[in-house]
Amino acid sequence: MKYKIAIIGFGTVGQGFAEILEEKGIWLKEKYGLDFDVVAISDPIKGSVYAEEGLDLKKILSLIKETGKIDSYSEGIKDWDSIRTITDTNANVIAEASPTNIETGEPGIMHIRSALNNKKHVITTNKGPVALAYRELAKLAYENEVFFRFEGTVISGTPALNLGLETLAGIKVQEIRGILNGTTNYILTEMESGKTYEEVLREAQRLGYAEAKPDADVEGWDALAKVLILANVVMGGNLRVQDIERTGITGITLQDIQQAKSENKRYKLIGKVRKENGGIKASVSPEKLNTGDFLAQVNGVLNALTFVTDELREVTIVGPGAGRRETGFSLLSDLLNIHQLLEKSSSTIDPSRIVTC
Ligand SMILES: NC(=O)c1ccc[n+]([C@@H]2O[C@H](COP(=O)([O-])OP(=O)(O)OC[C@H]3O[C@@H](n4cnc5c(N)ncnc54)[C@H](OP(=O)(O)O)[C@@H]3O)[C@@H](O)[C@H]2O)c1
Repeated sequence: MKYKIAIIGFGTVGQGFAEILEEKGIWLKEKYGLDFDVVAISDPIKGSVYAEEGLDLKKILSLIKETGKIDSYSEGIKDWDSIRTITDTNANVIAEASPTNIETGEPGIMHIRSALNNKKHVITTNKGPVALAYRELAKLAYENEVFFRFEGTVISGTPALNLGLETLAGIKVQEIRGILNGTTNYILTEMESGKTYEEVLREAQRLGYAEAKPDADVEGWDALAKVLILANVVMGGNLRVQDIERTGITGITLQDIQQAKSENKRYKLIGKVRKENGGIKASVSPEKLNTGDFLAQVNGVLNALTFVTDELREVTIVGPGAGRRETGFSLLSDLLNIHQLLEKSSSTIDPSRIVTC
């Protein structure tokens, strides 16, 4: 099967995904038999273009680099909006990378509904639709016999959801807890060297780790969206935003950090989902951890997630939780997963695909 991909939202992640596909295309075909074309890209400001035989990604990427736009691409149909790109192109995989909105889930929910209703597979990094409408969208995918994958919604390309759902299949997970936001982890880490919250926030903004409006990170909303996804997808809950206790890091002072240090402790913003009294409880809040605690040793922009299980006790992964290529990669990982699931009927590995990494 040839995958015809439409990328919806051509910002950091959409471009990172396109770069990876452009650079690794031949190798992906040799190693995994993954045969694809990117046939369409749609973005409200950067432009939209559709060519049913496939776009020249090298040209597209150099256009966006040089002009910030893709609408001067020489071929194809221009200016289709995201919905028309999803419904009227020959794309059979929709890579949804539009901005997250944790209050409404839009425009992502609308994009994903349209794709699934049109029997197109969806891969996405957009947290809003998964956090707010997972059950509805998963049902829609099932009814339409297509896949809905979203590995990048929780700590980017670091395999959190695949780990919980697939690699740890057969295990009972009692609790998942972790550092789910790199911006706040960077701020708390840097405050340990004696800088105030305001100083470190400014530094994080200058380095591009924090947004000009940092509330989504520092008030815990971003971590909350990930906790909601873990609760509903991995732990089988049916929680809503209002079911999750949320405290950000804005109340943590330099004195708190120093006091913790003198006690051999360290503050981390911890997202937690646990089984409790027959239900699922979830929270996001700063916790004072012993410095010997594994999560206390995860510093800077890194993220980490510990699964507390019945058979393996604790399994922890550490890795990047954001980034152009890191998150672009999560879309590739979803695409390869779909490809491998569709290929499963021939379960042996084609020996000609055993090529060097
Ligand atoms: N960046 C990361 O490291 C990271 C990590 C994990 C998950 N994510 C998630 O991945 C998604 C993309 O992130 P990003 O960093 O690439 O954001 P971004 O740089 O802001 O890119 C999003 C792009 O989507 C465009 N867009 C807005 N409305 C759209 C619509 N209706 N249809 C099509 N495109 C639309 C935006 O255009 P305008 O700029 O004109 O609005 C922008 O170009 C977000 O949901 C984000 O939460 C990102």
